[in-house]
Amino acid sequence: MENFTFYSPTYFVFGKEQENHAGKYVKRFGGTKILIHYGGGSVIKSGLMDRVKKSLDSEGLRYVELGGVRPNPRSGLVYQGIDLCRKENVDFILAVGGGSTIDSAKAIAAGTVYDGDFWDFYKGKPVTKALPVGTILTIAAAGSEGSPDTVITHEDGMFKRGASGEALRPAFSILNPALTQTLPPFQTACGIADIMAHLFERYFTNTKDVEVTDRMIEALLLTMIHEAPRVMEDPNHYQARANIMWAGMMAHNNSCGVGRSQDWASHDIEHELSALYDCAHGAGLAVVFPAWMTYTMKHDVSRFAQLAVRVWGCQMDFANPEATAKAGINALKRFFKSIGLPSNFKELGAREDDIDRMAQTACFGNGRQGTIGGFLKLNKDDVANIYRLMI
Ligand code: NZQ
Ligand code: ZN
Repeated sequence: MENFTFYSPTYFVFGKEQENHAGKYVKRFGGTKILIHYGGGSVIKSGLMDRVKKSLDSEGLRYVELGGVRPNPRSGLVYQGIDLCRKENVDFILAVGGGSTIDSAKAIAAGTVYDGDFWDFYKGKPVTKALPVGTILTIAAAGSEGSPDTVITHEDGMFKRGASGEALRPAFSILNPALTQTLPPFQTACGIADIMAHLFERYFTNTKDVEVTDRMIEALLLTMIHEAPRVMEDPNHYQARANIMWAGMMAHNNSCGVGRSQDWASHDIEHELSALYDCAHGAGLAVVFPAWMTYTMKHDVSRFAQLAVRVWGCQMDFANPEATAKAGINALKRFFKSIGLPSNFKELGAREDDIDRMAQTACFGNGRQGTIGGFLKLNKDDVANIYRLMI
C-alpha cells in the first residue's frame, strides 16, 4: 500500500424524507443566501422542489434559482451561474438533482470566488477555494455527492473534462433512496454501470498488497450485482435502492481508492463519446469497459482472473488463467445486457468515422500529453484500437 491522506468531510444524511430538513443543514453549514441549482425539471415534476423550498422558507433562508442543467453539463450555464451568484451575493449553492447538476453547482461554486476563467480548473489547476455546496441527490450514479470532482463540457471545442480539489467535497449531502424511484429504468441502469465503473477504475492497479481496498471494491461490486436485478424488476424496491445509493457514494468518495494507483482511461475514453454524441455517461461506460478490459487483460492476467473468481464466481483455470479472465469479462458483458445497457457503437449512436478524432482528443486535447491510464498507459493508437473493439 502507498502512503496517502484522506479527507472526506461531507456530512451525509441518509433516509426517507430527509430532504425536508434541507434548510436546517444549509443553515448549519453557513448558508444565508442560496442558489438552488437543478436540471431539466424532474425535481419540479416529482414535487421535490416544493418540499425543498418549504424547508428553506421555514428556516427564513433567502434563495435564487437556476435550472436547466442538462446531462453532460455545459460551460454556458456555469458562466451564467457565476454571474448570478456574484450579482445576488450568494454564499451557498444547493444542488438538487443528479451528478450533472451537482457538477455544475461545483463549477459555479469554484468559479464565483476565482478571478480568472473557471475553465482553468478543467485544464488542471487544483480547486483550493469554492463556495460551500450542499446536495440533494436524485440518482445513484456519478458519486459527485461525496467526491472532490466535477466534470463539465466546454461548448467551445466540446471538451469534456474534470476538475478536482478538496474544496469541492460537498458540505452535506442528503441521500433519500425513495427519490430515485421515479427514475426511468434506463437511467437506473446507467447509474449502476457508472458505480461499477468507478470501482473498476480503482481495482485495476499496479500497487501490490492492497487487500483491504481490493476486498472493499469486491464487496461493493457484489452488492451491485445482487441489487441491480431487484431494482430493475421492481423500481419501488426501497431497500435495493438504498443499498445501490450508498454503494454509489462509497464507490467514488475514494475510500476504496486510497493507497493504490488507479486507472481512469475508460472514463477518458467514455468522455469523448458523451461529449460528441451526448449519450448517457453510464451507457458509454457499459460499452467502453468490456473493450478496455479485453485490450488490457494481458498486462495483469491474474488481477483479471481474481476479479472473475471473487466477483463473478468463475471457476479458476490454473492451467489457463487467461480463460478465467475472459470468462469474467464475458460475465460483465452479460450483466450489462441483462439490465438493458448498450454493448456497441451502433446501440450507443456512435460512428466508426469519428474514432481517430476521438482518440486524438482523448490523448492530446485540452492540454493532455499523449497518453492516458494509470494501470496501462495507452497512446493514441491503443485508444483507437479500443474504440474499434466496440464496433
Ligand atoms: O435533468 P432532470 O430533469 O433532473 O433529469 C435527469 C437527467 O435527464 C434524470 N433524473 C435524475 N434524477 C431523476 C431523474 N429523472 C427522474 N427521476 C429522478 N429521480 O436523469 C438524467 C441524468 O441525470 P444526470 O445528472 O446527468 O445523471 P448522473 O448522475 O449519471 O450524472 C452524469 C454526469 O456526471 C459526470 C458524468 O460525466 C456526467 O456528466 N460524472 C461526474 C463525476 C464526479 N463529479 O465525481 C464522476 C463520474 O465518473 C462522472 O464522470
Ligand atoms: Zn463515472
